[in-house]
Amino acid sequence: MEYKLELKEITKIYGEKKVLNNLNLNIVSGEFMVILGPSGEGKSTLLRSIVGIENIDSGKIMVNGEDVTNNPPNKRNIAMVFQNYALYPNMTVYKNIAFPLKMSKMPSEQIKEKVNKVSELLKITDVLDKNSTKLSGGQKQRVAIARALVREPKLFLLDEPLSNIDARTRYTSRQELKRLQKELNHTFVYVTHDQSEAANIADRVAVLHNGVIEQIGTYEEIYNKPETTWVGDFIGTYPMNFIDGSIYDYKDKKIGFRPSWVDESLNDFELEISLIEKIENNYFIHCNLGEKNIVIRSNKNYNIGEKIKVGLSKFNVYKDEKLESVIENKKEKASAD
Ligand SMILES: Nc1ncnc2c1ncn2[C@@H]1O[C@H](COP(=O)(O)OP(=O)(O)O)[C@@H](O)[C@H]1O
Ligand SMILES: [Mg+2]
Repeated sequence: MEYKLELKEITKIYGEKKVLNNLNLNIVSGEFMVILGPSGEGKSTLLRSIVGIENIDSGKIMVNGEDVTNNPPNKRNIAMVFQNYALYPNMTVYKNIAFPLKMSKMPSEQIKEKVNKVSELLKITDVLDKNSTKLSGGQKQRVAIARALVREPKLFLLDEPLSNIDARTRYTSRQELKRLQKELNHTFVYVTHDQSEAANIADRVAVLHNGVIEQIGTYEEIYNKPETTWVGDFIGTYPMNFIDGSIYDYKDKKIGFRPSWVDESLNDFELEISLIEKIENNYFIHCNLGEKNIVIRSNKNYNIGEKIKVGLSKFNVYKDEKLESVIENKKEKASAD
């Protein structure tokens, strides 16, 4: 089912604060879009504005080319799963899921059919008669998703739906959600502050910062070519390293590189090792480069205090905090061999 969402110059102000500031975002039909950003950046505000429970101060929300900015929530055909699930506490799971259909005055036989179908999809048929307060976090999350899906919305908004679930269950739930989305071919907009979640689940990631989408692309694109130093700093288990460009003759610019882009067979600059972290098969080595602290990845175990010479196999060049170019360092390797 075709569903194109365009957000045009959306501004939302709380008091003095522009939480969303002329934000633009286009969502393509059938994609799994993840909106990623630290907490307090306006992710929930953005979803609430899309679904229509929040009025925006200016801008337009377009669905398939039609302006829905002034439509009430029930005239938008969008379902939302809230951060805290918001299940009805004194109802069984069945009644929770059936509720939106009952409100739309659907005949009860048809309701039953739909509730059963969606419950099978989410593997919650065995808890349909349970009171919603008696469920585990993972089950509550499934029920909340089932309740949103049963309306067969065109667009599905999820606000950090897995944040209250233990780590193990969270990993499998992610994959199940992704499978569900592809199976149903629905358009999903999924909000999270957790970048590993974004990396795992997204077709595209939109990074929200300072009220705008600072960068949009696949996770790999954003990881490898962060367009601003803020994005480079925010994305990655370790932030991107930023050093003075003069090391490679980029005088008034900054060079950005990931810990894994360091090449120990090159001798371009010297680092002094200050701390070593072992993570699975790799060493993440914290070093001093003059006054600057950087992190490199290696499979060798060095000693603290040791000085090593390295170079970069690849780096990004930034001018005024913005990406200028990405350099693959083709420099001849030191002829040790
Ligand atoms: N109803 C509200 N009234 C006033 N300020 C709000 C309201 N809702 C959110 N905010 C503020 O807007 C900012 C963004 O909030 P929110 O959208 O919840 O961020 P996120 O979901 O990214 O954590 C925060 O500074 C928050 O305090
Ligand atoms: Mg939020």
